[in-house]
Amino acid sequence: MSITHGDSVIAARENPKPQFDIFQQLKAGTADIHRQIEERVPVFRPGFNLADYCQLVKRFYGFWWPLEVKLSSLSDLQHPELDLEGRLKSPFLEDDLRFLGLDPTLVRQCARLPGVDSVQQAFGCLYVLEGSTLGAQFISHKLETDLCLRAGSGASFFNAYGESVGQRWQDFKIFVTARVGSYDSETVVATARQTFQSLHEWLGARL
Ligand code: HEM
Repeated sequence: MSITHGDSVIAARENPKPQFDIFQQLKAGTADIHRQIEERVPVFRPGFNLADYCQLVKRFYGFWWPLEVKLSSLSDLQHPELDLEGRLKSPFLEDDLRFLGLDPTLVRQCARLPGVDSVQQAFGCLYVLEGSTLGAQFISHKLETDLCLRAGSGASFFNAYGESVGQRWQDFKIFVTARVGSYDSETVVATARQTFQSLHEWLGARL
C-alpha cells in the first residue's frame, strides 16, 4: 500500500517530533554525577555535627565564590530577566561563615573550576548552581531540626530564595530554554558535568 501525502501529515500529527528540551538533556546527562555528589554532602549521615557543617560551608564558599566572580564577568549574562546578581549565593555563604565565627577571607579557594567562557558554558554551569537550590530545601530542613540553623542564622545558603525556590527555578528554565538550541546542547551538558565534577573533586580534596 502506498503512503500518500495526506497519510504522512496525519502520521506527523499523531506522532509529533519530540520537542528539544535542554533541561531534560541536562537532567539525564548529569543524573549519575548528581548521585555521586550527594555522597560528598554528608548532611544526612549519622553523627553529622556543627564542625562538619563548618567544613562544608567553607568548601562550598571556596567553590561558589571564585566561580560566581567568573560568571559575573560575562556580559551575556547581564540580563534583567536572568537577574544574575540576585542569584549569587556567595553572599549567603559569607553570612553563614560569619555566623559560624569563620572569616571568609581566610577560606581556601578552588583553583580547578569549570571553563565558563561562553554563554553556553555559563548556562551549563548555572544549571548546577541553580539546581542545587532544589536539593537544598531538604538539606535546610535537616539543618534546622538537627543543628537549629536557619536562614539568617547559619543556614542562609541552604535556604536561598526561601518560598520562591520553585518560581526562581522556573524563571531560570524559561530564560535558558529561549536561548539554547539543540546544536548547543553538547556544550551545555558537558559544562554541567564539568561543574559537578570540579565540585565533586573539590569536596573530596584533602587540603
Ligand atoms: C545531600 C545532597 C543533595 C541532595 C539530597 C539533593 C537532592 C536533590 C533533589 C531531591 C532534587 C530534585 C528536586 C526537585 O525536583 O524538586 C535535586 C535536584 C537537583 N540538584 Fe541536588 N541534591 C543534593 C546536592 C546537590 C548539589 C551539591 C548540587 C550541585 C551543586 C545539586 C544539584 C542539583 C541539580 C542541578 C538539580 C536539578 C535536577 C533537574 O531536575 O534537572 N544537588 N537534588
